[in-house]
Amino acid sequence: MARVAYVNGRYRPLHSAAVAAEDRGFQFADGVYEVIKVLRGQPRDLERHLDRLARSLAALDIAPPMTRRALESVLHEALRRNRLPDALVYVQVTRGTAPRNHLFPRRARPSLVVTVRRPAFPGEREREEGVGVITQPDLRWGRCDIKSISLLPNVLARQSAAAAGCREAWLIDREGLVTEGSASNAYIVDAAGRLITHPLNERILGGVTRSVVLELARQDGIEVVEQPFSLDGAYAAREAALSSTSSWLLPVTTIDGRPVSNGMPGHVVRRLMALYAGHLGVA
Ligand code: PDD
Repeated sequence: MARVAYVNGRYRPLHSAAVAAEDRGFQFADGVYEVIKVLRGQPRDLERHLDRLARSLAALDIAPPMTRRALESVLHEALRRNRLPDALVYVQVTRGTAPRNHLFPRRARPSLVVTVRRPAFPGEREREEGVGVITQPDLRWGRCDIKSISLLPNVLARQSAAAAGCREAWLIDREGLVTEGSASNAYIVDAAGRLITHPLNERILGGVTRSVVLELARQDGIEVVEQPFSLDGAYAAREAALSSTSSWLLPVTTIDGRPVSNGMPGHVVRRLMALYAGHLGVA
């Protein structure tokens, strides 16, 4: 069935949906986005996603394109028109269309695009056997906490991972610390069974999945340490994992071709995967 996109007030066939050439998203990557998981017709963790969207917009001084209520209606209408019970919804907001000039336009209205896509959620094999990551230098800007549509370093890192036959690239900052993946958060489990992940600051995107996983871990009595870990720490980890809206929580079983521990998913990550599936009501 042909997909339908919402673009600035209209629902259009996705293949012909377009924004203006002067849209600041196209000219300057001057915008933000969200990706929301939909299962059985229901957007999941929607409040957390809309909270983050509001934060990203505020950080860039872009006005919300409509009220939260109205945006929720658009999301539901886009879902209804696309008839995909399981989906990923992309919400993209830019500063709007204006003659090209670095300065903020005085009167532009923000652009809003909503697309609904068939998800490529991880299959049983990836969940059972884990996935591989490679490492790449973190070439991104200083505000990775904003979910900006400016994704070129992420695109390049992800392409390198794919070329190496890996699911994801973990990004290494100048101090040799793992920040996160190109499109996911990164975790290790140390010898004491502690779940370690980079703290929330401007070096990483505060993942919605990350926030849920850390809550579930704490409730389950797993010690959570929000501290950066080094690449050597990752090589020596007992377990490793990544999380994102589209990947859920997945075991990472090789890093740069080296097996993590015995190369099989460990019990802390497996436990958290089960808890996350429970959180989504699909356990
Ligand atoms: N990835 N870090 C980066 C750089 C990301 O792009 C993403 C999201 C995450 C995880 O955030 P969340 O759990 O809220 O999805 C971390 C896209 C949306 C994805 O692959 O789903």
